[in-house]
Formats: sequence, structure tokens, C-alpha cells
Amino acid sequence: MRSFAASAQQRERERHEQVLLLARLLPFDQQDAFTFLDLGAGTGAASRVLLAEYPRASAILAEYSPQMTAEGHRQMAPFAGRYRYVEMDMLASDWPAEVPPQLDAVVSALSIHHLPDARKQAIFGEIFGRLRPGAWYVNYDPIRAPDAVVEAVWERVNDRYDPEAPYERAHRTPQEQARYENHVRYMIPLAPQLEWLRQAGFIQVEVFWKRLDWVIYGGCRPGLTVSPSPSGRGPG
Ligand SMILES: C[S@@+](CC[C@H](N)C(=O)[O-])C[C@H]1O[C@@H](n2cnc3c(N)ncnc32)[C@H](O)[C@@H]1O
Repeated sequence: MRSFAASAQQRERERHEQVLLLARLLPFDQQDAFTFLDLGAGTGAASRVLLAEYPRASAILAEYSPQMTAEGHRQMAPFAGRYRYVEMDMLASDWPAEVPPQLDAVVSALSIHHLPDARKQAIFGEIFGRLRPGAWYVNYDPIRAPDAVVEAVWERVNDRYDPEAPYERAHRTPQEQARYENHVRYMIPLAPQLEWLRQAGFIQVEVFWKRLDWVIYGGCRPGLTVSPSPSGRGPG
């Protein structure tokens, strides 16, 4: 059985290409200075890719777990001065005052699926309300299949790529089982999520990438093309 830390590092490497695509979907030149919000940022895996891709960008990492935040400060050390953490519970609709009222971009990776449906729907509206006109929200997340047949296809194909997966599924420790149940508890198919983005007011709602149970989707707040924050400004 792989150790959790080793698995986490491996997963981060495997996801790098998708997170880089998420970063490049944002409508900025590489030298633009802008501030983005990373919702459910964890230890900052997505933020680090964005900050490396945009050397003058700044990140606000929203996270509710003190453990994740503490480990995040360690992993974010190479980006000191270009990021800050904000304690935020995405289950609550009153966002902390430390999040600026207008953001140049919002991203999320592997966090929205942790929210019950009513909060998924509501937070899309809250994100929309915080974006500058013309700014984008992009989400990278796992999804549930629309039916059992498709679910079985996804599992069969995923298992072909990861032959250890069937054994690991059948031999989870209680801790691994709890983590798995937490992972899938509120996971839902893609279609309603796209619909809720549109209902929130987003336009150009698009699935930019999809592979079996993983997607990158997003949308734009109508308005002028986003103009980045004044150059050199810190993360809010
Ligand atoms: C699977 S991790 C992903 C972290 C990071 N975005 C990444 O790409 O590696 C999910 C993160 O969402 C956070 N999270 C889950 N529910 C949350 C909530 N209600 N409010 C804030 N953060 C939450 C967890 O603490 C965790 O750090």
C-alpha cells in the first residue's frame, strides 16, 4: 500500500498537466499582474502552478483547515510575498472580509465536489458576484457518472491504467474508507453544475477538458475583457 504522502505527491504530478491547462485558460498574458482566488486551496497545489505560470500574479488561498494551511505555508515558501491564506468555510455564504470584493479570476481544484448541492449552486452565484466584468471562473474537479453503465465504463478504463486500484478498493483501511466516503459524498454529474453556472449568470460556459470522471469547466462574467490589477500589487 502506498503511503499517503507518496500518493499525494504522485497525484500532484499526475494532475500537473490539467492544472496547467486551468492556468492557461485564464485570459492573461504571462507577464500580467493580477490577483486570483483559489477556493478550497488546500496546500496550494493549484496556486503554485498558476503563480509559476504568471510570475507577476498574486494568489489568495481560501481554506478552512488549519492543518492544510500550515502545510501550505511550508509548500508555498518559494512564493512568499505573492500569496496569502484566508480562513474561509465554503459552506457559509458570508465570505470573509479579507477576500476583495472584486477579483480578476477565481479557480478551484478538487474542492467544489466537497459541497452539498445547494452550496455548489449558491457558491457559483457568490463567485459570479465577486468577479470583475469579463473575468473567468475555472474549476477542475471529479464528477459522478450520469448512470451506472457509464460509471462501470469509467471504472473499467481507470483500472486498466491503474491495475492496483481494484486491490486497493477492496482493501481500504478504515481511515482510507472514511477518506473515500468523504471524497464521493457530494460528488454529482457534470450537467447540473454547468446549468448552475449558467443560472448564476455566467456566459461561455464550457467544458474545456474531460477524461472519464475528471473535468475542467468554467465560465465568464459578461462584460469588458478583464483588465488586470495594477502591476506589482500584492495579493490584496
Ligand atoms: C482534495 S483537497 C484539494 C486541495 C487543492 N485545491 C489541490 O488542488 O490540491 C480539498 C480541499 O478542500 C478543502 N475544503 C473542503 N471543504 C471545505 C470548505 N467547506 N471550506 C473550505 N475548504 C474546504 C479541504 O480542506 C481541502 O484542503
